[in-house]
Amino acid sequence: MGTLGHAPDLGAAEPLRDVWYYVLPSARLPAGTAHRQMILGEPVLVGRDRQGQAFALRDVCPHRGVPLSCGRFDGEAIACGYHGWRFDAQGVCREIPALPEDARWDVSKIRVPTYPLHEQGGNLWIYMPGPGFSGAPLLPPPPTPWGMPQLYEGMVFPCPVDHAVIGLMDPAHGPFVHRVWWWRSPGQLNEKAKDFVPIPYGFAMTRHRLQRVSLGYRLLGRHPEVEITFQLPGIRVETVFTESHRLVNLTAITPLSDTETQIHTVFYWTVPWLGWAGVWLRPFVREFLAQDRRLAVKQQEGLRFLPHLMLVDDADAQARWYLQLKSEYRRALQENRPFANPVLPKTLRWRS
Ligand code: FES
Ligand SMILES: [Fe+2]
Repeated sequence: MGTLGHAPDLGAAEPLRDVWYYVLPSARLPAGTAHRQMILGEPVLVGRDRQGQAFALRDVCPHRGVPLSCGRFDGEAIACGYHGWRFDAQGVCREIPALPEDARWDVSKIRVPTYPLHEQGGNLWIYMPGPGFSGAPLLPPPPTPWGMPQLYEGMVFPCPVDHAVIGLMDPAHGPFVHRVWWWRSPGQLNEKAKDFVPIPYGFAMTRHRLQRVSLGYRLLGRHPEVEITFQLPGIRVETVFTESHRLVNLTAITPLSDTETQIHTVFYWTVPWLGWAGVWLRPFVREFLAQDRRLAVKQQEGLRFLPHLMLVDDADAQARWYLQLKSEYRRALQENRPFANPVLPKTLRWRS
């Protein structure tokens, strides 16, 4: 039986809180630097101290509201650009230059809110707390593939997070949006049947042998097999196994604001000759993202007219699961109970 359903809140729902979002690759945050990053509409100062420890503070000075990122960071503390108050990486005030020597002020009582960070495998994740945050994340940080990333690309899409996530897991747009000679021949649609199972906070397309092997995969080795996992809030990991190699593509989606979403895509591989081909691959990865982005721009033009959106049959089942996972996560938090994964094992069939 097919499923035809309207999806009225698609794209209108608030992004999740109390989850981990990708911030940036570790390599983009050298020791002694700090910069501003908007996440969920909140200004965050992401930095790395001289010892190499990453930190994240709310990018608003508690004195008179100037962004701390407008100040100076010396690798240990950030001095606000307005009156020079100094805050360390834990957000604790260390100095108020205007106070006389003998002032009886415990400046360390003044604090800037901090955010939990997790750094592993060359990726930096931030935990965006919800109301009533106890100080400890409710969710383990996302697992990272082995080693260090060989290739990273990021792109900002002018759309709310849900449309970006749904586009990411949409199996039916490939032949229409990603028409490139090196990936597949144009115009051909093939019948697909894939097994899906629930995993913690998400679902997985189980590991399977590819029926048709495109040129991109053929280059990796013989008998490619693929596994794709998805988990909240918007983390997709595609692993390609061949007889000799492995290639992992981690894509993570971070809502910057209600209208802007950043797509991060990171590649890991064990193919030696791909090592130097990273530079050569980058334009292809960028073009792939740009194809999705162009579509997202066009989609926003149509969404202004508030159409009734649809999720149709198995081709849109993953989108439906995403919305169900998200609302279950939110309900479980509100009701203060464990998360119960709404996804059941299923074989999905579609043409793409
Ligand atoms: S506003 Fe930051 S020190 Fe005054
Ligand atoms: Fe796409």
